[in-house]
Amino acid sequence: MDYSLLHKKLQPSFDVLIPFLRYEKELENELLLSHTEILFKDSKYIIVSKLASKPLWAQDWLSDCRLVKFENKSAGVKILKNMQNLGVHFETDANAKLAESIKKDLRELKLRRIDFKVPSQFNFKYFAWGLFDSEYLIICDSPKSQFPLGWHEFNEDKSIPPNRAYLKLWEVLCLNYIQLKPSDIVIDVGSSPGGWSWALSNYVKKVYSIDKAELDPKISSNPKIHYKSEDAFQVNPMDYKDCTWLFSDIICTPQRLLSLVESWHNKSQVKNFVCTIKFKGGCDFDVLKEFNTYPDSRIIHLYQNKNEVTWIKQVK
Ligand SMILES: C[S@@+](CC[C@H](N)C(=O)[O-])C[C@H]1O[C@@H](n2cnc3c(N)ncnc32)[C@H](O)[C@@H]1O
Repeated sequence: MDYSLLHKKLQPSFDVLIPFLRYEKELENELLLSHTEILFKDSKYIIVSKLASKPLWAQDWLSDCRLVKFENKSAGVKILKNMQNLGVHFETDANAKLAESIKKDLRELKLRRIDFKVPSQFNFKYFAWGLFDSEYLIICDSPKSQFPLGWHEFNEDKSIPPNRAYLKLWEVLCLNYIQLKPSDIVIDVGSSPGGWSWALSNYVKKVYSIDKAELDPKISSNPKIHYKSEDAFQVNPMDYKDCTWLFSDIICTPQRLLSLVESWHNKSQVKNFVCTIKFKGGCDFDVLKEFNTYPDSRIIHLYQNKNEVTWIKQVK
């Protein structure tokens, strides 16, 4: 690689993308489809020119990064110690031993599990740094992510929820992607064993919970949760005239989910949605375009999502 040409391309600033673990290829495909040139990549991160928004498959997007030359380890430490805020280190393939040894001499911002609170009060100014090679640091002075490096591990509730699916909704609520009102009545389709219904029941008046499979007894005994054993695709939206939200974590194709959404959007009072779009193989970017045609909607790959993304629509 011609490093002098690359260094020129990286002046005065560039963006760093940290892919979700195991979805590095999805991020590359996404960049390809949006004609975004990859200026540099290793197994842990990708460098691109300035982007307008965060790609779906990036766990974190560090914008306006700069390269800072350092002569030796202690010079590197000095540069990082002189920064105004505490730093968080992002891993790169370059000289892991040197990075570790620099880290040891710094007071670092530790990645801590998040206490679930709606919305999260976490508001900490930090900077991010990584090693580009043995002579240059990458520094992002003001990362945009509320939680450093897009890391959203929660202190989990091990007592009530029957599985870990509720963590997706916790992330949506905690990061204020939606705002629920105590008077809201919601329908949760594909709800068994009941983690989402349980999480919702703490914020709304009533939860209709629909699945062919039974709920966990701890969830079905909740007086706010009204379970019905039914095929979600046979439910008549007109029978749920009091609902204003639809939540779906159903296992089905993106196309089938899209037709379910269309039906509820056209035939009911429901105008707000949180739906998991699940993929069997690679990400279906074409179907995502169709979801994106709904006004007031957005698609996010949550930290808690795996081979799936979350479509959120809330009318303000
Ligand atoms: C990933 S699980 C949902 C987990 C749930 N969100 C929770 O927090 O516990 C997907 C659910 O979709 C349900 N499902 C799949 N096809 C369905 C259909 N046609 N009608 C109703 N439920 C369906 C499955 O029975 C399964 O319980």
